[in-house]
Amino acid sequence: MTNSAKNVKVIQKGAHLGAEIQGVDLTQPVDAATFKVIEDAFVEHELIVFLNQPITSEQQIEFAKKFGELSVHPFSPNSDDTPELIMFDNDADNPPFSTDCWHSDETFRADPPKATMLHGLVIPEVGGDTMFASMTSAYEGLSDRMKNFITGLECVHDFKPFRALFGNDAKSKEDLRYFEDRYPTVTHPVVSKHPISGKPVLFVNPQFSIKIKGMSEVESRSLLDQLFEQSKIPEFQYRHHWAVDTVVVWDNRSTQHYAVHDYFPQRRKLDRVTIKGENILSYFDAADSKAIQNNKSPLPDDPKVKHGGHVPKRQLERSLEKAKN
Ligand SMILES: [Fe+2]
Repeated sequence: MTNSAKNVKVIQKGAHLGAEIQGVDLTQPVDAATFKVIEDAFVEHELIVFLNQPITSEQQIEFAKKFGELSVHPFSPNSDDTPELIMFDNDADNPPFSTDCWHSDETFRADPPKATMLHGLVIPEVGGDTMFASMTSAYEGLSDRMKNFITGLECVHDFKPFRALFGNDAKSKEDLRYFEDRYPTVTHPVVSKHPISGKPVLFVNPQFSIKIKGMSEVESRSLLDQLFEQSKIPEFQYRHHWAVDTVVVWDNRSTQHYAVHDYFPQRRKLDRVTIKGENILSYFDAADSKAIQNNKSPLPDDPKVKHGGHVPKRQLERSLEKAKN
């Protein structure tokens, strides 16, 4: 099938995130007009799914490059020939490592990835789903009081789960020091601004976020624990059940994910390619932070979200838009 923008259908799958892209064959070239429809859906729905795509690794890499320059993960098992390709191949002899924790990929970097793409190759008969959460919706779901409180805050991120990969011998310690020099802790805004949609995103995650700047350890831990709860709220989630040759691409700037570890010791094999990102922008500028210090809210009152409940706001907005048109 030759790809054409007019054949592309975007089918919303989740209330807050997730859409299936139909009418695209990823074994064939994807032209600019077709890709524009795909990339717009990727930003709007935060996660896109393509079914029945029997692509090779090379085709996966070619498609990923349309989203931007690829990046190499410093700690994951990469392909020798193609370092951009990460192969997750887990079974009874190789249990999965540290992905059953809510996170955005690689936020220990100064410029975390823009997007991550997975291609399902071997899927367990039971289990092995991936959970996703919309962190734009997670932010919207906070009370106005909490939104005000976290305005202007910054958080320190660290590659902490990967420290477990290093042993106690001299060589391992030297290797760890190399990675600490290469990837020192970084600071990101707690509320980031999506570079395309401009929406606020709750940008802290339990895998890599370790400390709120300017707060005591107890205050920081308590606040982070509260904020980490947001991705666990089912209303903000989409649960993806894998099939062979499904391709999923998520916007790493606006989502978090959690690989459900319920399939061991069955085999699960997925190929991952990651697309480079940029510095994380703050949603608030210096004037907003000043306003907060003066007890003035920079946030307009939103009549739809009065109590910080799990209001499916984006769904409501979409319904209202549709009703108007
Ligand atoms: Fe991940």
